Amino acid sequence: MAYQRHAARHAQNREDNASKFTAVCIGILCGLVLGWVVLETIDMMFTSSNVHYNPEAQLQDAVAPQTSLGRRAKEKFTQMLEKVEKAAGYAVSRPGMDGVSVKESLYNKGSNPTSAAATSASQESPRPATTQSPEIKLAGEPSTSESSSLSKNSSPLSSTASSTTSSTTLSSKPKGDTIHTLMTSSGSGYQNFQGRIMYGTYKIVQGMSGGDKLTGFTRILHRVKPDECMDEIPTFHAKPLHPECDVWCDFPVADRPNAVAQWVDSVKADPSKLLGAWVLLTECDYVWIKPMPVPGDAISSDVPGWQFHFGYIIAQHPDCAHIIKRLYGGGDPAEVPNSGPAPAILRFSELGFVMPFWEKVTAAIEADPEAVKVLGWVREMYAWDIALAQAKVKILTEDPPKSPLIAQPPADHTIGNAAMFHYTWGAIYNDTTHTVWRWEKRDFTQPTAALKPKLLPMPPEDWAPGKWHLQGNEQVTEEMHKTLASMIKRMNEAIDTLPDLTEKYKALQSA
Ligand SMILES: *[C@@H]1O[C@H](CO)[C@@H](O)[C@H](O)[C@H]1NC(C)=O
Repeated sequence: MAYQRHAARHAQNREDNASKFTAVCIGILCGLVLGWVVLETIDMMFTSSNVHYNPEAQLQDAVAPQTSLGRRAKEKFTQMLEKVEKAAGYAVSRPGMDGVSVKESLYNKGSNPTSAAATSASQESPRPATTQSPEIKLAGEPSTSESSSLSKNSSPLSSTASSTTSSTTLSSKPKGDTIHTLMTSSGSGYQNFQGRIMYGTYKIVQGMSGGDKLTGFTRILHRVKPDECMDEIPTFHAKPLHPECDVWCDFPVADRPNAVAQWVDSVKADPSKLLGAWVLLTECDYVWIKPMPVPGDAISSDVPGWQFHFGYIIAQHPDCAHIIKRLYGGGDPAEVPNSGPAPAILRFSELGFVMPFWEKVTAAIEADPEAVKVLGWVREMYAWDIALAQAKVKILTEDPPKSPLIAQPPADHTIGNAAMFHYTWGAIYNDTTHTVWRWEKRDFTQPTAALKPKLLPMPPEDWAPGKWHLQGNEQVTEEMHKTLASMIKRMNEAIDTLPDLTEKYKALQSA
C-alpha cells in the first residue's frame, strides 16, 4: 500500500516535472519565435522605410545604408540599389555620389586643381580632325556657304556639300533661334517618374514668354516594349542594343548613343522630324524653370553650343588620363572636355557629326576592361567628351551659376543663369535630432511610382539661420532653402497635371 502510494506519488512527480519541463521548453521556444518575429518586423520596417518616402524613418541618406539598419534590410537595400542603378541607367554610386565622396563633390567642388585647366581645354581643340564621318545636312542647318564655328575650323563637316536638304524641307526649315529638346529614357518606373515630371515642367515653361522657341520635344525610348508614357510624351521608339535591359542588364546607359543615333538617322530620312535648329540633350531628372535661351542664331552665326561642366568628370585626372589618352587615339586628355551628353545644346549637324565618334568610343570603352572599371558608371559621359574632342566639335563648357543650362541644388545654392534644375543629389534636412524634410529621387524606384505620382512634400516653411543642416552637415542657408522650395513647387505644378496611367500600365503588363 505504502509502496503503491509512494509509486503513485513518484509517478505524479515525474509527470509534474515532465510538464514543467515541457512548459519551460515551450516558453523558451515561444520567446525565441517571438523575438525572431519582432526582429524581422523591425528589419522589414527599416527595409520598407528605406524604399519609400518616409520622413518619420529619420534616415540620413538613401545612398549609403546606415548602421541603424538591420542586416537583412541592409542586404535588401544594397540589392535594391544595385537593381535600381542597373535597371534605371542612373548611377547611385557615381563618383562623387557615394559615401564619403558625396561630401567632397558637394562641398569641395571648387578645390579640384585640374578643373580650371579642364574648362579652358574644352574651349578649343587643336587636334586635327579625323575624316571618317558622314556629312549630315538638314533643314534648319547652316548651308556650306554660311559661316559656322565648324567651317572656320575647316572641319570635315563643312567640306562636303549638302545633299539631303530638299526644296520641300526648306519651306519648313526651323528658325535659327528654336530648340528641339531630346530626353533619353529606358522606360523604367524610376525614369518615368522623373521623365513625366520633366515633360510636365517643360510644358509649363512653353507657356511662358520665350517658350515659343521650344518648338520640339522628343523622348528617345530605348526599350523593346512600349511603355505607359507613349501617348503622354512625344516618343521616338528606338530599338535597344541590349533587349535584356527592359528587365535587367549591367549597363543600360550603353544603349544611349545608339538610340540617339537611330533618332538622328530617322531625321536624316525625314528632315521634317527636326523641329528646332538647336538640339538640346537632356535627361529625365531635370526640372524646367524658364525657357532655355539659344546660344545664338544657329543658321547664320558661328556661336558654339553649350554644355555643362561636371566637377566629377576629370579627363585629365592622373587615375584615368592614360585611359582617356588611349581612347582618344593617343591625343592629349587636356583637349577632352569635362562634360557629358546632357545637358548640351548644339546644332543638329554637329550632333550628327559627333554621333559615329560617340558610338565608336562607347564601344571601345565597353571592350576595355580597365576603362570600364576606372571610368565606372560615368563612362558614357567620358565617351561623349572624347567623341567631341575627336570630332573637333567646339562647345562651350560652363560652370554654374554662369551656365544657362542647369543648376544642381543643394550643391548649387541658386539657379543662377540656368533654365533647369538637375536633381542628381537629394536634400535631407535635419534639425539637432531629427530629419524634418527629405527630397531624394531614389525614393521613387518602384515601377508603379510613375503611374500617379503624389505631390511632393514642400520643405518646411519656418527657415531660420542655423536651424537645419544637410546630410553632409552643411547648414541649410536661406538661399539654398528657397532654391529647393522653388524646384519642388515647380515639380508639384507638373505633378498636378499628370493623368493616372495605372490602367494603361496594367494593359501593357498583360499584353
Ligand atoms: C539626421 O537625422 C537622422 C535621425 O532623424 C539621423 O539618423 C542622421 O544621422 C542625421 N544626419 C545628420 C547628417 O545629422
